[in-house]
Amino acid sequence: MKVRESGMPDEPVWSSFFEPEMVLKAMLVDEHIDDLCEIGCGYGTFTLPAARIIGGELFGFDIEAAMVAVVNQKLLAGRISNVRLAVRDVLKLTTGLESASIDYVMLFNLLHHDKPEELFGEAFRVLKQHGRLGILHWRSDIATPRGPDLSIRPSPERILQLFDNNQFAVEKPTFFIGKYHYGMVLQKQ
Ligand SMILES: C[S@@+](CC[C@H](N)C(=O)[O-])C[C@H]1O[C@@H](n2cnc3c(N)ncnc32)[C@H](O)[C@@H]1O
Repeated sequence: MKVRESGMPDEPVWSSFFEPEMVLKAMLVDEHIDDLCEIGCGYGTFTLPAARIIGGELFGFDIEAAMVAVVNQKLLAGRISNVRLAVRDVLKLTTGLESASIDYVMLFNLLHHDKPEELFGEAFRVLKQHGRLGILHWRSDIATPRGPDLSIRPSPERILQLFDNNQFAVEKPTFFIGKYHYGMVLQKQ
């Protein structure tokens, strides 16, 4: 099942909202990360820069074949060889990755799903102990030029209520990124 309102505008419009390297640094994606999982890779806005930073492999998933094709083209052009992409409905099928095998899960601009806890569950399963879950989303407190309807955007407070404190602790509390987004980084307990 595709996450509601998770379609993308044209790529130049989408890209104009982010400085990916700055975002990844703020989200604690660094060279100490070995393997990383990205759910909903979209145009690869964060996929390629993250793949250049991490030490291991990046496993990326998107329900849209067109998105995966676009990112695969960019990987070829950029000669990036540590990314494995799959067209996959992660909500229906999970990622299929081995449990406790991943150091970082990126859930970027996807948590307006009506049951975000389903995505937390999969992140928890695949992460190693002390692995990180990075959450980036459109701010829920202001109107923005793009993004899902304000009524379905999760606030940071709502996200903190939804995750299980026995599963995740806050490593980096909520902070604003750019004009329109917030981030937080959780750590698997
Ligand atoms: C709003 S875009 C964000 C893309 C990227 N994370 C970013 O921040 O640039 C959300 C992406 O998630 C994908 N998506 C939606 N539902 C999904 C599902 N059930 N399984 C895998 N991908 C999904 C969409 O096709 C879309 O490309």
